[in-house]
Amino acid sequence: MSSIVTSSVVDGIATVLIDAPPVNAASQAVRAGLKRAFTELRDRSDFEAVVLACAGRTFMAGADIGEFDTGIAEPGYHEVFRLIEDCPKPVIAALHGTVLGAGTEMAISCHYRIADKGTKIGLPELSLGIIPGAGGTQRMPRLIGLEASIDLVLSGKPLLATKAAEIGLVDEIASGDVNAAALTYARTLVAEGAKPRRTRNLPVKDAGRAGELIAARQAQVAKTMKNRNSPVKLLEAMAAAASLPFDQGLKVEQDISDQLVDAVEARALRHLFFADREVRKIPGITKDIKARPIRKVGIVGAGTMGGGIAMCFANIGVPVTIIDVSDENLQRGLGVIRKNYEHSVSRGSLTGEQLEGRMGLLSTSTDYASLSDADLAIEAVFEKMELKKNIFQKLDAVLPQGAILGTNTSTLDIDEIAAATKRPADVIGLHFFSPANVMPLLEIVQGAKTSMDVLLTALDMAKLIKKTGVVSKVCYGFIGNRMMDPYAREAERMILEGATPEQTDGAMEEWGMAMGIHSVFDMAGIEVGTNCRLANPDMVPNDPSYYRCSDVLVENGRLGQKVGKGFYLYDPATRKRSPDPEALALLRGEAKRLGIPQRNPGKQEIQDRCLYAMINEGAKLLEEGIALRASDIDVVYTAGYGFPRYRGGPMFYADTIGLKAIRDRILELKEILDPQYWTPAPLLEKLALEGRTFAEWDASNNG
Ligand code: COA
Repeated sequence: MSSIVTSSVVDGIATVLIDAPPVNAASQAVRAGLKRAFTELRDRSDFEAVVLACAGRTFMAGADIGEFDTGIAEPGYHEVFRLIEDCPKPVIAALHGTVLGAGTEMAISCHYRIADKGTKIGLPELSLGIIPGAGGTQRMPRLIGLEASIDLVLSGKPLLATKAAEIGLVDEIASGDVNAAALTYARTLVAEGAKPRRTRNLPVKDAGRAGELIAARQAQVAKTMKNRNSPVKLLEAMAAAASLPFDQGLKVEQDISDQLVDAVEARALRHLFFADREVRKIPGITKDIKARPIRKVGIVGAGTMGGGIAMCFANIGVPVTIIDVSDENLQRGLGVIRKNYEHSVSRGSLTGEQLEGRMGLLSTSTDYASLSDADLAIEAVFEKMELKKNIFQKLDAVLPQGAILGTNTSTLDIDEIAAATKRPADVIGLHFFSPANVMPLLEIVQGAKTSMDVLLTALDMAKLIKKTGVVSKVCYGFIGNRMMDPYAREAERMILEGATPEQTDGAMEEWGMAMGIHSVFDMAGIEVGTNCRLANPDMVPNDPSYYRCSDVLVENGRLGQKVGKGFYLYDPATRKRSPDPEALALLRGEAKRLGIPQRNPGKQEIQDRCLYAMINEGAKLLEEGIALRASDIDVVYTAGYGFPRYRGGPMFYADTIGLKAIRDRILELKEILDPQYWTPAPLLEKLALEGRTFAEWDASNNG
């Protein structure tokens, strides 16, 4: 008999314990175990109450996400949760850890809930493109009201136990051993003569306001969750809770769940759930390889990047020493960091005491010798090879044996930087995205000589500082910027062909990108790209129109937001963009000078060219082994480049369109556009003709 779910009766209290590591997900085996346990209890009379608890680090953290792809096997959620709810004696859920999704739905099928004070309780289903489908949309409004339920699911953010207790989701808070506290609570309930309290029988207390509540949330969803279907459907299911008897409401929930679970949105988000975790699995990092400790960090460069990176470590309590050439630079850098923290304090996400604690972890020096006890140094200075080599030689001279030397370069050859040291195996690229304290992506660049334990340390470090670390091999631009190059190239070229910046950005934003690429350039400073092209003439193709929009704007002093104008004009107060006839005149003049035919590309063409250029480059990255998996590319794009998660990332999106259709469209574009860009990558061509997908390629390479 399986020991995933066990039950026992001691002194008149039954305990049903789920022990399914790592997170007690509600797999078929767990459901079957629960069914057996509660069926047996139904027929016993030697207990007065049941405690339902989970072993390990958390109460049930949700459905078994993998099972959505194969279909839910028997026994189903409804059957099991109803069996729990029907139990003739009070059932008390003992909550700890992260109670999520089906875990929360199971908890509210119990009659009473006690939670460890650190417990987080939430319904994150929309982040998987589905709705709570195990009774959650019908029971939760009956327990905490319609408005609170809708907001819990729409926000996706878990509630802390104390907050959950305030709104009636939890009855008791425990500190210490929650299972022991649950037994005590069960005895108290029995002594008080408490009866089963079935959530399904409670009224929805704010049902009278359902119409207005739903209408307001519909408007909110249309604005903030564009192109998404699951939030719209969630509101339909929640409305049913307010207007229909429980069983009929459940039926509505079930129909909606069935529609959503196989749709692209849910498949895309499930893909990313696993892809986000897969990035840590690197061939060559075997179990015997151990990460190095990171107890103290050195940062070289007190600019925006260096400061942001320093904050990442201070935030997790690791002391940081920042090195720069002058005290003035260092003080300015510290000032910016303090301002950033003060902003968090003013928003209420940090206390004044925490601010001082974090600032207290930062020290500064102009002398590299201060890094003699650092476990990791990260260089974050200008993109100049000679400067970086010089810094790495200095780091090599002072850092202790076993320390890791990281560079935040976004373009330079890490192997060349590593060769400037006597310890190239300890050198690695750590490419943060600006602002480094906010952006979740970290590209971890593995040089030719980087050792496996250094790579593992970087992956662990990424998790510690709450970033998604994705490994890339060395090439110009690594994964992210290398794929952005053809995307932005096409967007700029289409302006020369007669589109306006608003049209190209608008088409991509409507499709789902967080921000159009011209706006991104305006924000980052258009000269960044221009300077890179000037510094790397070998990388510039034989094409007089290549990034001419950016370069012409820079030549005319239009560097972007920081000077109030670039592709757009910016309102100094609101930073809102608006079209600028002056910029357009410059760009039109350049198109004329270059004799570019005016094709005036429409929305579909804009989207095809931007996306397919990106996907084609992605295929090249896979062939060259720069990216390990198509799913890694998807993680890079969704975590760092504003690619909509509900489309799964560029490579998953390509699979949903069909690689053959993409290859055919690329060939069509080759007829009318520059063939040096519009030739299908060999891997794309091969997979397209074999009728395969990038996901299948991933499986056959890494399976
Ligand atoms: N179904 C299937 N597998 C799951 C899972 C789930 N609901 N939740 C976690 N896992 C797996 C992960 O894939 C990972 O597997 P791996 O080690 O093979 O990569 C392992 O459990 C550990 O998860 P991880 O996220 O790395 O651990 P963590 O401690 O950082 O976070 C959670 C734990 C529970 C907060 C996090 O896993 C989570 O948010 N899970 C999803 C919860 C959810 O959305 N539930 C709703 C489903 S309807």
